[in-house]
Amino acid sequence: MKKSILLALLLVVFATASAQNIPLLKGWKFTTGDSPEWANPAFNDQNWQAINVQKSWEAQGHQNYDGFGWYRLHVVIPSSLKASAYLKDSLRIELGHADDGYAVYLNGHLLNQNFKGDNIQKGRYGPCKALLATQNPAILWDKDNVIAVRIFDTGGDGGLYGEPKQFNAEMLDVVDYARINTDGDFDYSDQKSLSKSVKVETNSQYQYKGKLYFTVTDPATDKLIYSKTDDAAFATKKAFEKRYELKDLAPKSYTLTYTFIDDRSGKKLIKTEHAPYILTPETSKKPRINGADIYGQQPGHPFLYKIPATGVKPLKFEVSGLPQGLTLDKATGVITGTVTKRAAYPVQINVSNSLGVARKKFIIKIGDEIGLTPALGWNSWNAFGLSVNDARVRVAAKNISDKLSGHGWSYVNIDDGWEAEKRGDDGAIVPNEKFPDMKALSDYIHGLGLKFGIYSSPGPMTCGRYLGSYQHEDQDAQTYANWGVDYLKYDWCYYGDIAPASPTIDEYKKPYQVMRASLDKTNRDIFYSLCQYGMGESWNWAGEIGGNSWRTTGDIVDTWTSMSSIGFNQLMASPHARPGHFNDPDMLIVGKVGWGDNQHNTRLTPDEQYTHISLWSLLASPLLIGCDLGQLDRFTLNLLTNDEVLAINQDILGKQAARVLTKDDYLIYVKDLHDGSKAVGIFNISDNYKNITVDLNNLGLGHFTTIRDVWRQKNLALNNKALKTGIPSHAVTLLKLSN
Ligand code: GAL
Repeated sequence: MKKSILLALLLVVFATASAQNIPLLKGWKFTTGDSPEWANPAFNDQNWQAINVQKSWEAQGHQNYDGFGWYRLHVVIPSSLKASAYLKDSLRIELGHADDGYAVYLNGHLLNQNFKGDNIQKGRYGPCKALLATQNPAILWDKDNVIAVRIFDTGGDGGLYGEPKQFNAEMLDVVDYARINTDGDFDYSDQKSLSKSVKVETNSQYQYKGKLYFTVTDPATDKLIYSKTDDAAFATKKAFEKRYELKDLAPKSYTLTYTFIDDRSGKKLIKTEHAPYILTPETSKKPRINGADIYGQQPGHPFLYKIPATGVKPLKFEVSGLPQGLTLDKATGVITGTVTKRAAYPVQINVSNSLGVARKKFIIKIGDEIGLTPALGWNSWNAFGLSVNDARVRVAAKNISDKLSGHGWSYVNIDDGWEAEKRGDDGAIVPNEKFPDMKALSDYIHGLGLKFGIYSSPGPMTCGRYLGSYQHEDQDAQTYANWGVDYLKYDWCYYGDIAPASPTIDEYKKPYQVMRASLDKTNRDIFYSLCQYGMGESWNWAGEIGGNSWRTTGDIVDTWTSMSSIGFNQLMASPHARPGHFNDPDMLIVGKVGWGDNQHNTRLTPDEQYTHISLWSLLASPLLIGCDLGQLDRFTLNLLTNDEVLAINQDILGKQAARVLTKDDYLIYVKDLHDGSKAVGIFNISDNYKNITVDLNNLGLGHFTTIRDVWRQKNLALNNKALKTGIPSHAVTLLKLSN
């Protein structure tokens, strides 16, 4: 045997012997359908389809398939895994995310499932994993093992999917029983100093002693700007807690790293996060009128528009040229009434306070179209999921009114979870016990000058398995109108049981046309939001059949992978955005989200959140806040109240940005604005800080004389039409170019 071959063999043996984990990414087989036999290791899955578990099954030949599917993988689990581990108790199997219900089997033994009771159809989207003791006879050490996963998808994307590193089996390490808890909020009374408490904790039987290292680096220079090391000991119920204080910070991105090193095992636990930094300048005390320059309603329908304005209170509102039938409340800026005559009415708005007057020309357009600029508001789903209730919606409404409506935010939308399980005796839809009086809630919201939204499905059931509108469309539309509903999100869900297996475009349109006709019979403007995840390339036809907005994707979650893969994949839909009709890449995931009773800070870094809001603004997407507004922190509030950023979203031309440059590590988007100026987003999609020089001439943007950093609201200097900008990883530079 040649020496080199021997060496190669030894390396392979060594690599196997010291394997710390087994990747479970490749070799999966898949089939749709359901059979208990498929958990059996002896079952022959050779004829099943090979599938890539990084992507949903929709993306791999099963478009629109909802229902059961099974995945199987043959894998050898080497005992060296156990031998080389510091702790030898447990093996963890991680299989990305399951959408929705899942059950994981190893060699026919059920290891874990994510649904309650025996109804797999009640599962929800989430990580797919199993933990088992190394003594568990289900594991066949050093032999062929079969992992089988049974999935039930209720709608939208289905199956297993995730990033490569999320698919593996590994031994639990001593540090796997410990956690660096950074869930607490940052305190920052001014832009420059910041403090935060961090805990290192465990709920295992192990006692830990070691050191906690804390560092702060500037990603622009990689320079260490702060470091601190502490002895850290902790055990169950005795967390180690440390408060860090940082001073003299600039309003920019910093990387905070916490590293615990365990004395006994030498093992490390590392967590990084990014400090919040505020870019939006403080709201001026002088009056300022914000929001779009146009508002549309249909003739003869109840009119409600609150003039968005900021400045020290009290503000006094005046409008000249109001069409007949409308009256203005001078103290609140709320305009109500009805206008019968179709026309575009130019009006002049003045808002004054003790410090001055702001003036704005504005158009009230009475005609067929509503929602002339993208909807700005809140929706309960990403915050509360099915545990939404009357009190939670009122808290949201009050906070929108107090903190956000001055910047143009107006919709307060209840998502799934408000409906009773049975209709009333007359067949009318009724709310469940969490919503004692829908009309009273609607009156409360309207009383704040805001708009009220609701949710249903064309199917017999919604995705949350509440009542849908199937065969009750006229009646439901009329009930909504009676309640004073201004917005309907209409979600495909169990219409999948009614529609044929592979619907034609006409079959996709059908349920949405039925509800459109029902809404048209009411005497109300009800903004119509189609939610069917973009099936049948809905962006091509959803506007024509009367949708004011339409979802183009499956559900978003609060990760960079989810947000960026949705946001940067909207080019196909771009030409279809226009006033009254907008693409909807799903709701915002900033602030405290949770899809249930427990909320957590979004897992997007501050930089990623600037990207999220900038991108959705460039895409002229609806901006529907998805967090608990009762827990609105300073960073999130500032993120949502930058009037120059919102003005890009609300531009009356209603165009969606085009991508003008695609590089491996950065992307440039340009959105045309109504006055001939352009909004430009430069997105660093790489994992590193980037210094980028943009040649405006090359992009056909060389003729603009003023370049404004929109987040900071400051004009920038140009050097020979070359713009230099440093952008942290996953962050953005958002500009407005004008003359
Ligand atoms: C999903 C929809 C979500 C939410 C949920 C309610 O289909 O995409 O946005 O509405 O249903 O069950």
